[in-house]
Amino acid sequence: METNRLSSTLTAALNAQMTNEAHNSQIYLAYAAWASEKGYGGIANFLFRHANEERNHMMKFLEYILKRGAKVIITEIPGSGVDPTSVNDCFEKVFKYEVQNTTSIYNIVNMSMAEKDWATWNFLQWFVKEQTEEETMAMDLLDKIKVAGGPDAKDDALFALNNELAKTPDDAILAQDVTVEKP
Ligand code: FEO
Repeated sequence: METNRLSSTLTAALNAQMTNEAHNSQIYLAYAAWASEKGYGGIANFLFRHANEERNHMMKFLEYILKRGAKVIITEIPGSGVDPTSVNDCFEKVFKYEVQNTTSIYNIVNMSMAEKDWATWNFLQWFVKEQTEEETMAMDLLDKIKVAGGPDAKDDALFALNNELAKTPDDAILAQDVTVEKP
């Protein structure tokens, strides 16, 4: 008896997204290692923690495909590309990858809607919210490096930013979670 509840199109798209999340994890790992080599232990720590978050995202896609009775296809993960040239470049690349990931999630949301696969649509809403958080996190990083001097940030400003990021929470606060008491 057929128990697969996912179309072949959505199965392919969800498997591809699972690999995207693994790829993002590799990118954060590579950037964390780069930051560590450059002596930015706080920035490295922040990026290492985020690499784990991306790995968790990968697992959520894997589990969802399995639970809907479809086939998980594990493929090779693309490499992380070239190292950043500076902290500013690193944070700009993080923002770019997060926006790309949002576009990719939105595409699967559109596909699930076209198929009226409301289970998949519902599953993806967690990622829609998560991507808003991730983009906010990336924009916060860009704000911080801008205040530190952007591409011309001096060593003392980078040192302060490094110490700050070591203590920065992993999750950004979303507009919908803000109140008058907690702006
Ligand atoms: Fe899983 Fe940062 O997107």
